[in-house]
Amino acid sequence: MVSGQLLSRIATNEGHGENSPYFDGWKEYDGNPFHPTDNPDGVIQMGLAENQLSFDLITDWIKQNPEASICNAEGVDKFKDIANFQDYHGLREFREAIAKFMGMVRGGKVTFDPDRVVMGGGATGANELIMFCLADPGDAFLVPSPYYPAFDRDLTWRTGVQIIPVDCYSSNNFQVTKDALISAYDKAQDAGINVKGLIIANPSNPLGTILDRETLKDLVSFINERNIHLVADEIYAATIFSSPSFISVAEIIQEMDCNRDLIHIVYSLSKDMGLPGFRVGIVYSYNDAVVNCGRRMSSFGLVSSQTQYLLASMLSDEEFVKNFLAESSRRLNKRHNMFTKGLEQVGISCLKGNAGLYVWMDLRHLLKEPTFEGEMALWRVIIYQVKLNVSPGSSFHCKEPGWFRVCFANMDDETVEAALKRIRAFVCKGKEDQEMPTKSSKRWQKNLRLSFSARRFEEGVMLSPHMMSPHSPIPHSPLVRAK
Ligand SMILES: Cc1ncc(COP(=O)(O)O)c(C=O)c1O
Repeated sequence: MVSGQLLSRIATNEGHGENSPYFDGWKEYDGNPFHPTDNPDGVIQMGLAENQLSFDLITDWIKQNPEASICNAEGVDKFKDIANFQDYHGLREFREAIAKFMGMVRGGKVTFDPDRVVMGGGATGANELIMFCLADPGDAFLVPSPYYPAFDRDLTWRTGVQIIPVDCYSSNNFQVTKDALISAYDKAQDAGINVKGLIIANPSNPLGTILDRETLKDLVSFINERNIHLVADEIYAATIFSSPSFISVAEIIQEMDCNRDLIHIVYSLSKDMGLPGFRVGIVYSYNDAVVNCGRRMSSFGLVSSQTQYLLASMLSDEEFVKNFLAESSRRLNKRHNMFTKGLEQVGISCLKGNAGLYVWMDLRHLLKEPTFEGEMALWRVIIYQVKLNVSPGSSFHCKEPGWFRVCFANMDDETVEAALKRIRAFVCKGKEDQEMPTKSSKRWQKNLRLSFSARRFEEGVMLSPHMMSPHSPIPHSPLVRAK
């Protein structure tokens, strides 16, 4: 008997999803992380959707408000009360501050009731919690694809719920349509699957796009007509760096008739405030029974009272929050422009987006063959030889090979420059190294160094704007031209 057989089915199944290229790339980075001086040939982490561009603003606030951290001389008077606090409702001032913040990041167009704020361990915990409240093992949720890979783990692993992808395509910029939803729903019904709801990430991970008003209304009418739930994961609500502005499902249900008991929002401070380590996740439900049950379940994923206290104080500082959100968005915009312009210069376009911490990069023209094998071959070159941890579209359940998600906000400007340099050299070098490279292959690296010193690409391969649009296929691969 192997030791695994002594454990539960959940413990021994593959529902954690860690045996995938998405996580392989992370492992590769962990084993050989890039450092500008100590390890300049290491792997650059571009698979991590973290917002590290505005940390200084938060650390400044913490220095100016030392009493908010209770484990120091300025705050210690509060230590006993806060360290003893363990009510699963959460600190009143924390829920009030979160509700106010959620309204602010949605442009003040909606208000949130602190009594509906339920805590979870990050959006990860919040997403699982809402599944436990809404669905039984074997029930299904529709999820527009491509979608955030960890949904496979968060929504299904421990709950036994299943995901039914609703495939979206580049022909309409991967927008989900009511027709696609109806077709996926009807197919599931025909197969005897009980569909309990639809979950969306808006803004989207991995697309970096937001849903427009009409689409949101379509989604709400779709779920309302079928009496199923809508979960809107709005974790990137304030991670918007150019127009148009974000529209929350909370705004939509003010404008149309629908059964609010079916509407639930998942939120977190991991992206908008850049605080993933604090594990602050929120379920905001318009359904009283879900709020009550969710609150009881939140015992399994409470936010530490020290974190609640600190954040209650920080988020109540309206002036700070306003400045932080504006500055964070400005810095993200600058970084996004810098990165996408660098890619455009080598003929690489991205889906047009204005949100998130990543771009959805179109490398279809670099595939040796337009298949998922071709995508994996290209990905192996990028991770093992170019040494950039980007995530292949297949790990987001994308139906079209050749798309990759590339994160751009978890590093400093110099590291982005280093990544762009490698991409330039790689595109310049050509396709031949895609032939089943191995981890130990050094061929490309030698060429990379040559390419860096020659810098021949910078002079040669600028594409005209029409060739850079994600909507128009690039007539000649820059690889061909470079050769
Ligand atoms: C759409 C989406 N939902 C949930 C999460 C998980 O967030 P958290 O760190 O708050 O658990 C992420 C993180 O990347 C995400 O992109």
